[in-house]
Amino acid sequence: MNKTIQELDVLLADFHVFYQNLRNYHWNVTGPQFFQLHEFFEKLYDGVSEHIDNLAERILTLGGKPTHTLKGYLAMATLKEDEETPEAMTMVDRVAETMKALNKRMLEIAEHAGEQGDPGTAMMLEDLVASYEKTLWMIRATRS
Ligand SMILES: [Fe+2]
Repeated sequence: MNKTIQELDVLLADFHVFYQNLRNYHWNVTGPQFFQLHEFFEKLYDGVSEHIDNLAERILTLGGKPTHTLKGYLAMATLKEDEETPEAMTMVDRVAETMKALNKRMLEIAEHAGEQGDPGTAMMLEDLVASYEKTLWMIRATRS
């Protein structure tokens, strides 16, 4: 299997874990910022749901077959499911850490894809990195 396809498949698995963690935070957040954070997490998981679809369809576009089982995702993912329901700001911090890790990974994959003559994948991932960088700025503004 092409290296980019393999890397995108692992990324797909990680986005599924991120999605489920965001659902956890959306449902279980408590405290004075409940309304804001409840909506913030919902917006993020709606975005992740789109990214998941785009990634899977990119894998198909490149001639691969995206993994489609939860069992498969959990076996491949580098991210961990958050089994806790932490305090609100810890949830925000964990989201920020996850986005940083995903951005690092996406830039590596974009670089590999670029080297392999696949600028389409590289651009798709770089756009996503830029949008997460913006969200990370918003989180930093909330935390300062
Ligand atoms: Fe909801």
